[in-house]
Amino acid sequence: MKQLYHVLGAKQFGKADLEDLFEAARAMEGIVARGGDRRHEGRIMTSLFFEASTRTRLSFESAMHRLGGSVIGTENAAQFSSAIKGETLEDTIRIISGYSDVIVMRHTDIGAAKRAAKVADIPVINAGDGAGEHPTQALLDAYTIKKEFGRIDGLKIAMVGDLAYGRTVHSLSYILANYQDVMIYYISPDNVKIPIDVKRYMDENGIHCEETDDLNSVAGSVDVLYQTRIQKERFPSAEEYEKASGRYIVDSELLDRMRSDTIVLHPLPRAGEITEEVDSDPRAAYFRQAVNGLYIRMALIDKCITESQGK
Ligand code: CP
Repeated sequence: MKQLYHVLGAKQFGKADLEDLFEAARAMEGIVARGGDRRHEGRIMTSLFFEASTRTRLSFESAMHRLGGSVIGTENAAQFSSAIKGETLEDTIRIISGYSDVIVMRHTDIGAAKRAAKVADIPVINAGDGAGEHPTQALLDAYTIKKEFGRIDGLKIAMVGDLAYGRTVHSLSYILANYQDVMIYYISPDNVKIPIDVKRYMDENGIHCEETDDLNSVAGSVDVLYQTRIQKERFPSAEEYEKASGRYIVDSELLDRMRSDTIVLHPLPRAGEITEEVDSDPRAAYFRQAVNGLYIRMALIDKCITESQGK
């Protein structure tokens, strides 16, 4: 019986898994500095994106190339795969299983990666499923926090913006639930609050969380300010979007209220919620964060291929 290692959601990662992954990502940093290696020569990754992406798709593709492998796929699977002819996701995945060794998939529907994994004969990596989860983003976020502070235990983290549809904050919450004495502030407009099931999971895992709509009262006390975009494309109406947009801006005025050792993260892309004047401040860690995505994704591809044997 074939064993497959999929990456479907952040809850699958325990503390030991995270520490192993971070160590592997650190090793990947060295490999990239030496120009990559050929450990997955002859292996093929399918990059199957039904939603737009810059960072996730290109960092995964770069990661596979850095490991000596090749990439096939489509950046617009909704239009340029046979989905447009009515092919089911399950049939598409069955076919791709015969052509490659690992699938990286972004889809519009919550749970799509789990559906894919049920029929796949090769590992599936969830690169974002609608407003559900984005586990590989959360892994690179946690890796960034660990690199910047040397630890995650004991940190105070504010997650700001669209917490309802923001799949990265759902996954990051689940990852942070592995650590001790973490304090999370969920800061959002009323119509995009953190989902109850995420809060319940944090409670069950003993993580102290507070909800507020007041960024100014929290900004001066946290270690990490994790800003997110209000995702216009996910709102049911323009009216609902208008209620949520423009409320929280990280600008030089907010930086003045923050500690000198606080870092600002953002999964990106941004749409005005961090002003460009912030970019030159050493506390702006979001571009360093995006680079870390390459190392984490190299480590994940390596794990998926090496731990999925028996083809
Ligand atoms: N953070 C992130 O998922 O970015 P992309 O949508 O560009 O992949």
